[in-house]
Amino acid sequence: MKQIAKILSLVMAICLCLSFVACAGSKTVTNTDTDKLQAVKDKGELVIATSPDFPPFETREGGKVVGIEIEIMEKIAAKLGVSLKIEEVNFDSVLPGVQAGKYDVGVSGITITETRKQNADFTIPYFEAAQVIVVKADSPIKSKADLTGKKISVQSGTTAEEYCLTNKYDIAPSKSNNEAFNAMASGKVDAWVVDNEVAVAMIEGKSDVKKLDENMTSEPYGFAFTKGSDTLVEAFNTEISAMIADGTIKGIFDKYEAVYNAPKN
Ligand code: ARG
Repeated sequence: MKQIAKILSLVMAICLCLSFVACAGSKTVTNTDTDKLQAVKDKGELVIATSPDFPPFETREGGKVVGIEIEIMEKIAAKLGVSLKIEEVNFDSVLPGVQAGKYDVGVSGITITETRKQNADFTIPYFEAAQVIVVKADSPIKSKADLTGKKISVQSGTTAEEYCLTNKYDIAPSKSNNEAFNAMASGKVDAWVVDNEVAVAMIEGKSDVKKLDENMTSEPYGFAFTKGSDTLVEAFNTEISAMIADGTIKGIFDKYEAVYNAPKN
């Protein structure tokens, strides 16, 4: 009898030990590896990577980064109870940096694409954009049919670049969007392909350049995270849905005098 009791208590002790190990194990995983929302709350700041050459979404003004997406981030950071830290990088470094876990969020007028979704997590879309053509006011280019055989500037790593390559156009990529604009404005290239609202903002007040009225693509914007950021993405989605529903996002576009195109889904 004593023997059985001994064996029983030994078995129970082993079970207890095992369940402790299991608990401790899952707790470690939750807090450090997969719960990105908790990680952001723990450090008290949301670190965003942005390429501030993309008005009205993100641009430098008087030594500060401002824009529609910066305002959206300020609101989300406030809701999460953390401060916002802005890291400025070229657009083609935003997604690689996010994937490598250097930043919490990529905020750069980023189009959600199937290819990008393989390497990063995305929020739901908050806006629907399109690629357009910008040329000199006296350009013979009237539509995309005229782009073949012409030299086109694009920003490196963008969907504008991808669109042009897919269509076998001859491109001149630039690290910054301002350079891509200048290449066209100075006549070094024949056209510049860029996102619609950005074209509108960047040609404002310039009578020697014009945007063509042709939307060549339809592409949703969202915010990007390193893979496995489920909890953080979920928290962002909750805020984005609420801000779409109550008109906050539309209000921010109005403030920047930009046309708000609601996302399709
Ligand atoms: N929407 C385009 C893309 O995702 C262009 C984004 C460029 N963003 C920027 N901040 N310069 O590729």
